[in-house]
Amino acid sequence: MSRSAHPAGPRHADVLPEGHYSAPPADLNALDPKVWARTVNRDGDGVLTVGGRTVTELAEEFGTPAYILDESDFRARARAWRTAFGSDADVFYAGKAFLSRAVVRWLDEEGLNLDVCSGGELATALSAGMDPARIAFHGNNKSVEEITRAVEAGVGRIVLDSFQEIARVAHIAQGLGKRQKAQIRITVGVEAHTHEFIATAHEDQKFGIPLAGGQAAEAVRRALTLDGLELIGIHSHIGSQIFDMSGFEVAAHRVVGLLKDIRDEHGVELPEIDLGGGLGIAYTSSDDPREPHEIAKSLTEIVTRECEAARLRVPRISVEPGRAIVGPTAFTLYEVGTVKPLDGLRTYVSVDGGMSDNIRTALYDAEYSVALVSRTSDAEPMLTRVVGKHCESGDIVVKDAFLPADLAPGDLIAVPATGAYCRSMASNYNHVLRPPVVAVGDGEARVIVRRETEEDLLRLDVG
Ligand code: LLP
Repeated sequence: MSRSAHPAGPRHADVLPEGHYSAPPADLNALDPKVWARTVNRDGDGVLTVGGRTVTELAEEFGTPAYILDESDFRARARAWRTAFGSDADVFYAGKAFLSRAVVRWLDEEGLNLDVCSGGELATALSAGMDPARIAFHGNNKSVEEITRAVEAGVGRIVLDSFQEIARVAHIAQGLGKRQKAQIRITVGVEAHTHEFIATAHEDQKFGIPLAGGQAAEAVRRALTLDGLELIGIHSHIGSQIFDMSGFEVAAHRVVGLLKDIRDEHGVELPEIDLGGGLGIAYTSSDDPREPHEIAKSLTEIVTRECEAARLRVPRISVEPGRAIVGPTAFTLYEVGTVKPLDGLRTYVSVDGGMSDNIRTALYDAEYSVALVSRTSDAEPMLTRVVGKHCESGDIVVKDAFLPADLAPGDLIAVPATGAYCRSMASNYNHVLRPPVVAVGDGEARVIVRRETEEDLLRLDVG
């Protein structure tokens, strides 16, 4: 992004420091619908509202920081994915993005399946009454105990991630007198254009079994011989926060290529393929995500075309969106504490949370937007960095953001699009307490994950 001239103002330098920012937005009070949950608006006094509640009321009732989640938006996005893929495909919500028992119930009601990747996520899903047959269990290092629990519970599929796991799951299932449905996760050698830490289909990383060198074919050979396994398909997940569909195209081409090789070698047409998740969302106005119906159309067309070329029956497709469903539905509400102008640089705005509730900026150099939400302001835009309260200079929530120059302690600001991978990656760094998740809708607000307390912290510290 380009640097640009900045309007003169009491707190601004003539020369701006390096950063990701472009020009300040024309109207600092405007809320770009691309980055905010669907029911977000401002009331007559300029206070941000969501699900019919003002953020000032929510802050009063639930405290700050808090993740505020728009339930109807979550349900609408989940439904849009379900409808877009229709009855010939399955949508597995990726629980790692954010999982709670309320979320499990919403998914259940909206007809989605669930992807879990740990015993903890599995326990959450089961305790909320999710039908185990609609659960897929992932992970590159599932423990024997986790696998046993998943097989006993009757999960619909286990996604096998290594040769050792193929043998391990087969052995456990056989010991329990079961035949576990499974997919094999392969790495197709696609370089997804996203941050290195969240790209997963190139070969030099920990997930899956490489297609290259015949390893995936060998994995299939082994799985097909084991009584404890029913191999139902091939899985590929190429990365996360992806906008460009070409990576999926290459992945689908290679997965279908493997299905064809399997048919030719074993005379078996595997009935399913899973193309993973990874579809990007808008964190700032410059991001342009695709709609679920476009994604569904594009993926279905690619797979159908590839199968026709290979003379294969079109397998049942599944996808695993996490971020694209929950990400845009929540924002983090913070109270402004210290406001510190640094001459010639920018103004540091400290909030009452930070890297413990949003590690993504520090970890992936993620970009976020931010707005003053407890009021509007006609003051000049000032260049800020929104930082947390942790003892670390990398504790940055929004690296470069314009906020009104009259911002003051006690104002509420909100960072949109924090529904995915913020609460789920939250920590207790500096013994800061993890914020609650408050679901709002139709004028009602309820806590779905409560705020941590000092007692919670001390309960784990056994002396
Ligand atoms: N399926 C599999 C096998 C996955 O590994 C993932 C994400 C997903 C589905 C869902 O991907 P999504 O649609 O949410 O992009 N913590 C990182 C993202 C890590 C994603 C890990 N796997 C972040 O905050 O960006």
